[in-house]
Amino acid sequence: MRSIKVRVPATSANVGPGYDIFALALKEPFDEFEISTNDSGKITIDIENNIQNIPTEVKDNSAGLAALELFAKKNIGKGVKIKIIKRMNSGGGLGTTGASAAATIFGLNKLLNLNLSKNEMIDFARKGEVASGGSPHADNVAAALLGGFILVKSYNPIDVLNLELPDIPVVLAAIRKSQRTTRGFITYEIGQEKLKEQMARCSRVIHAIHTKDMVEFGKAISLDFIHEPVRGAAIPDYWDIKRKIINMGAYGCTISGGGSSVIAFTPAGKQDDIADLMEKRFSSNPNFTKVYKTFTSNKGVQIV
Ligand code: HSE
Repeated sequence: MRSIKVRVPATSANVGPGYDIFALALKEPFDEFEISTNDSGKITIDIENNIQNIPTEVKDNSAGLAALELFAKKNIGKGVKIKIIKRMNSGGGLGTTGASAAATIFGLNKLLNLNLSKNEMIDFARKGEVASGGSPHADNVAAALLGGFILVKSYNPIDVLNLELPDIPVVLAAIRKSQRTTRGFITYEIGQEKLKEQMARCSRVIHAIHTKDMVEFGKAISLDFIHEPVRGAAIPDYWDIKRKIINMGAYGCTISGGGSSVIAFTPAGKQDDIADLMEKRFSSNPNFTKVYKTFTSNKGVQIV
């Protein structure tokens, strides 16, 4: 096989308190990739519908950087053409850079018969994330590859647990972030009291998934002392809107990944009302693009 086409889902990382260790896959939106190998020895990137001006320079693009990493480590001298068909042009925090890296490593693993394990694919793909946020976080790439809910059990070595989720209705306000990454403003110096609460919340999230208790899941994800204070400060009226979303009956609400998108998990009957509220309250934000009504998904990257 010389060529493969794949579809890779949006993912929402952190899922409240799990900064860099939790993520989940969404049914929509998604991007598509056509990856083909050749004998040129060169990696090239071509982007269809590139309204966000994503770099096509190989080392500046998460897909290109992940491929470079894979080729260097495995001594591969092949050429590869990566065509990205952008469908997720709408916001920050949808895991699009992770999706690109994951799709590329998945495709190359198939095309070159590398037989990489899931953890090896995640490990190569996460290196691609350095191109955008400067850090090789594994949460988005793991959810894009495997679907479902991700717990990064260990970073050294990479080891990921993949849990099945019920199809939870999601309302996602896609909002671009005003700066490339806010990771540099995040501190782990949160003090003992908050640290205890943070650890308890992470444990509650996993327990809620095991017991399929969506009310508990929503409560557990709706508090975070690590990244949400930083990312929330960049979204006008975020705390007030979040409170209203929860008062309207959402299971929970938090910032999706690195922001500025906002994600709410809701009972099925509340999806429309919460979508209307988000539309109304976020539409004055110049970085707001659209509201998605979607679901969590147990599907990661798929061959089309
Ligand atoms: N865990 C990463 C972050 C996800 O919060 O920066 C980025 O989508």
